[in-house]
Amino acid sequence: MAIKDRKADHIRICKSERVAPGYCYWDDIRLIHNALPELDIDDIDMRCDLFGKKLEFPLIVTAITGGFPGAKKINGNIAEACAELGIGMGVGSERAGVMGTSEESYSVIKDYDVPLVIGNIGAVQLIPQKSGRMYDDDMIEKAIELVGADILAIHLNPLQEMIQPEGDRNFAGCRDAIRELARKGPVMVKETGAGISKEVIDRLKGIGIQGIDIAGMGGTSFSAVEFYRALETEDNLMTNLGDTFFDWGIPAPVSLSHCKDSGLPVIASGGILDGIHVAASISMGATAAGIANVILKEATESADAVKEKLTIIREEIRTAMLLTGSQNLKQLSKARHVVLGETKEWMDQI
Ligand SMILES: Cc1cc2nc3c(=O)[nH]c(=O)nc-3n(C[C@H](O)[C@H](O)[C@H](O)COP(=O)(O)O)c2cc1C
Repeated sequence: MAIKDRKADHIRICKSERVAPGYCYWDDIRLIHNALPELDIDDIDMRCDLFGKKLEFPLIVTAITGGFPGAKKINGNIAEACAELGIGMGVGSERAGVMGTSEESYSVIKDYDVPLVIGNIGAVQLIPQKSGRMYDDDMIEKAIELVGADILAIHLNPLQEMIQPEGDRNFAGCRDAIRELARKGPVMVKETGAGISKEVIDRLKGIGIQGIDIAGMGGTSFSAVEFYRALETEDNLMTNLGDTFFDWGIPAPVSLSHCKDSGLPVIASGGILDGIHVAASISMGATAAGIANVILKEATESADAVKEKLTIIREEIRTAMLLTGSQNLKQLSKARHVVLGETKEWMDQI
């Protein structure tokens, strides 16, 4: 199946099907209410530094799409909204654009003044694959130029590669390849919905990467997405694998608790749905939070719809800051919280 069909499938399926596990792990993190905040709401400062860029509030729209004609509108809508509200954004895997397919669906982002632009390539495509899909230096350069990337996200997606019929499945040598790339320019590493464990963050520290996006379990599951694709193509093996691994992964807050002391800026993502979740993630040690699916419907509609959704999240963050007596993000990072439910069980045992 052609890449452009796959990309369009992902958007269609994520919009129309339930692609997240039923449990909301971020709801298990409860900030402690402060009835006497002694703050003027107008004095609350939500600004955040991430990868040397200034964001108006601690949020990025993480990698979603690119590489088919419909993606231009989506990335354009996200870019316009992020530029206006002063937050960062990523694009989806740039492989298609680098190969010359729908380049404008990525480069449209350069029409807007987005404060932090994150490019995107797959770790598996830094090493030889049976498919022959491998980036060389020129292609990586093109991925950076195509979107004017401030930093390149290298995504780790072994779950997805195992479940999608056209997946690349040689994972041996990814860490060395990432280290090699990190010598040449600014890179970060992101998961795509199954989270980063303590062991993995230990292996990623000290190889020159500049940050990490945990993209933990609890939000978009690529196993689920590929399950629906496999159902449609009557691929029995992949339907079964996708179903079985539907909620595979490390819950996002658990992953965050393991990555927060890595010394790297950490983006908390995977199932973030609102501003309380963002505030909770900051109180747990994240530098900023990331969202993808929760903005997807709006991104297919208009830039105004994206702006409205992001504005709601921004005001929810502001409200959570007031209600925890946090004037700035440093204070929010010290706001007390409790951990409940399944998330606590995970943390107690992992
Ligand atoms: C439709 C869709 C396409 C995605 N494509 C990519 C991609 O190309 N590269 C990548 O690194 N992550 C990709 N992601 C993963 C997101 O960046 C994010 O890590 C993940 O969806 C978890 O966030 P969420 O629960 O808020 O959706 C995609 C997510 C969605 C919903």
